[in-house]
Amino acid sequence: MVDKTKYYKAKLKEPDFLRIARFIEKNYGIRLPLTKIIMVQNRLYKRLVATDITSFEEYVKFVFSPAGKLELEAMVDEITTNKTEFFREKAHFEYLDKKFFHSAPRDKVFKIWSAGCSTGEEAYSLAITAEKHRIKYSIVATDLSVKSLEVAKKGLYPQMALTHVPGEIISKFFEKKYIDEKIFYQVKNLLKNHIKFYKLNLKSSSFNVPFDLDIIFLRNVLIYFSMETQSQVLAHVIEHLSPGGLLFIGFSETIYKRDLPLKRLGPSIYKKI
Ligand SMILES: C[S@@+](CC[C@H](N)C(=O)[O-])C[C@H]1O[C@@H](n2cnc3c(N)ncnc32)[C@H](O)[C@@H]1O
Repeated sequence: MVDKTKYYKAKLKEPDFLRIARFIEKNYGIRLPLTKIIMVQNRLYKRLVATDITSFEEYVKFVFSPAGKLELEAMVDEITTNKTEFFREKAHFEYLDKKFFHSAPRDKVFKIWSAGCSTGEEAYSLAITAEKHRIKYSIVATDLSVKSLEVAKKGLYPQMALTHVPGEIISKFFEKKYIDEKIFYQVKNLLKNHIKFYKLNLKSSSFNVPFDLDIIFLRNVLIYFSMETQSQVLAHVIEHLSPGGLLFIGFSETIYKRDLPLKRLGPSIYKKI
């Protein structure tokens, strides 16, 4: 067994934290006020162990050096908050189910974007909702976190992740698997074939997604950004929405920028006008 205590004794000091925080906000929009110093320290212990570096001073020097390029990606992965779940903020899926897909034309292909998809549960929940109506659809699901995207692409979830998912949905769209005597559920190709997962930074100047989308889920991502970045990202994201298309943001998020071509349809649901 490796003795990890030498790594866990390290303390992240303010100048090193600020260097990380400035880099993260500038490149990815995620705000890290000084109150997050302990959170960042705790999340990065894993990286000290992985790189066999015993101080944060040395780690920060390494991560921002040319040799630390790969490590930088791993550091960003640890700093992002990837909490998500199947059918999170259920009212949005009910809206699609009862009010949108319900009267949808059968010949149209609905184009959907799950922006900040984390480990994929949101994209798969969208696919399940679309399947229920037997409509044609394609989903692009993007995130900054490479580690989360790997989980999303695999589509293999522990039993716990499906606690609130009805049994008939599980049996139709998932395959039960036993791994190390534990139960897992594997998303079937029936859903996977409709979804493309890939890396996309919402802070970047151009997005590799279609410009004629019908639905965008941008939920629980904006909260990590400053007001200014939120406005920029929102304006940029909705350029990819067709007129009449729907934008869903998280329940705890607000649209501050008033001059966007959006009409509020319901709690955190907007239509592009
Ligand atoms: C809390 S999760 C939300 C997941 C899902 N949308 C939901 O509501 O359950 C936020 C996700 O946004 C991603 N994220 C944060 N900043 C981002 C950026 N600049 N570009 C793309 N994704 C970002 C994180 O990696 C994380 O997976």
